[in-house]
Amino acid sequence: MANDYARPGRVRPAPENFLSDEDIAAINKGGRRDFLRSAFIAASAALAAPAVARAQSAGDPAILELPPWSTSLGLPVAANPYGMPSKFERGLVRRESPGLTRVGGSSVAFTPLQGLFGIITPSGLHFERHHQGWHDIDPARHRLMINGLVKSEAVYTMDDLMRLPAVSRIHFIECGANTGMEWGNVAVPTVQYSHGMLSCSEFTGVPLKLILDMCGADYKKGRFILAEGADGSSMTRTIPMEMVESGEVLVAYGMNGEMLRPENGYPLRLVVPGVQGVSWVKWLRRIEVGDQPWASKDEAVHYIDLMPDGQHRQYTSTQEVKSVITSPSGGQILLDRGFHNISGMAWSGRGKITRVDVSTDGGINWREARLETPVLSKAVTRFNLDWVWDGKAAILQSRATDDSGHIQASYGQLRAVRGTKSIYHNNAIQSWKVTESGEVSNVQVL
Ligand code: MTE
Repeated sequence: MANDYARPGRVRPAPENFLSDEDIAAINKGGRRDFLRSAFIAASAALAAPAVARAQSAGDPAILELPPWSTSLGLPVAANPYGMPSKFERGLVRRESPGLTRVGGSSVAFTPLQGLFGIITPSGLHFERHHQGWHDIDPARHRLMINGLVKSEAVYTMDDLMRLPAVSRIHFIECGANTGMEWGNVAVPTVQYSHGMLSCSEFTGVPLKLILDMCGADYKKGRFILAEGADGSSMTRTIPMEMVESGEVLVAYGMNGEMLRPENGYPLRLVVPGVQGVSWVKWLRRIEVGDQPWASKDEAVHYIDLMPDGQHRQYTSTQEVKSVITSPSGGQILLDRGFHNISGMAWSGRGKITRVDVSTDGGINWREARLETPVLSKAVTRFNLDWVWDGKAAILQSRATDDSGHIQASYGQLRAVRGTKSIYHNNAIQSWKVTESGEVSNVQVL
C-alpha cells in the first residue's frame, strides 16, 4: 500500500472550499456560476501541488517564479486582532437549508463536515439550531436560578459560577433531527446537509451536581431536573437525575478554550453528553428539581419518534452509535484513479467507538478502518482507510460499533422497526455512490 501514496488520486476536497484569488474576485462580481467552475479548477491545481517533482519538471511557475509573499513585507501583528481563517477558505461556512429556516424563528445552519479534520469543530463552524433566533446576552445581566426540591433556592451570577471548580471535557453534540430528511428517502446532496447538525467541542464549566449539592437538592424525591433557556422559545427539557449524579452534566460557559459563542448559548448552556442536542439548553437561566417529568412542549410534541403503528415513542434521549464518511462524500469529485484516503467521523451517545468498518462495494465486503487518537467517550472519533480507486463505480459506506456492543444498522434494519414516518434519531449507515467519472452522490442502500 505504501507505494500507492506515490500516485495519489485527487479529490476535490469540499464543494466551494479552497478558493483562488480569481474565485474571490468572481464572487465579488457576482459571477457565481463561473466561480463554481473555477473553484473546481483551482482545487485541482492546489491538490496537484504535493507532486513537487512532476510540477518542477513541467516548469510549474508556482515553483520557478518567486511569488509576492516571498519578496515583500508581511502584514503587521495587529492586522488581525482576533484570528480569522484565510480568505481562500471562505467557502467553508455553515449553511442554511432554505426550507428549514424562518427569519428570527425556528432555524438551523449546518456544519461543513466535508472540510473538517480531526475531531474538534472550530467554534465559528459549530452548527446552530434555534427555536426562536439567538441573542448576544450581556453576561453581567444573566442569572442562573435553582429551585424546586432543594433546601435553599439560589440565584447565581456569572461571576459566582466562574469562581467554582471547573472541568473541561470533549463531547459531541448532535441534534435529534440530524439526518432527519433521509427517513423519507430525500437524498440531500452533501454531508453538510445530511449529517451537519453534529459538532464536537471541548466544553468548560461546573458539574451541575456540584451546584445542586450546594443548594441541598433532595436526591431521594427529586429524580428529575427541568432546564430552562432565557430565549423567547420557552425551551424547557426534563433530564433524569441519574445523568446529573454521574457528574457528566455541565453548566458550561466555555467552548474550545474561550467563552461560548452567542449562537451556542453565551454566556451559559447545559452540556448533557450523549443526549440529543435539544436537552443542551442554551442561554440557561433556571434549573428546577422535581419528582416527575414535566412533559413540556419540547418533549411531549417535538423530538419524539413516530412509530409505524402511529404511536409516539417519548424520551429517546441517547444518540445511538453512528458514523459517516466525510471524504469522499456527496458533491465531491474524484479527479483521478489511484490512492485515496477515505476519512470520516464516528460517535456514540453510549460511550467510546471501538471499531469502524468500511465498504467500497455497497456492503458486500468490509475492511476495518484505523481509529485515530484520541478515542474519547461520547465524542467524535476520526477514522481513516487507505483505498485505491480502480476507476469503476463504487458505493462507500461506514459502519460503527461502540463499547456497549451496539452496531450501526442499515436502512432496511432501521425501517423494519421504526417505519418511514419518523423525523428524529436516524443513525442508519450512509452510502455515497461514486460513478466511473468520479462524481460522488448520496444514495440509499437498504
Ligand atoms: N436552547 C434554547 N434555549 N433554545 C433553543 O432553541 N435549541 C436546542 C438546543 N438548546 C435551543 C436550545 C436544539 S434543538 C439543539 S439541537 C441544540 O440546542 C443546538 O445547539 P447549537 O445551536 O449550539 O448547535
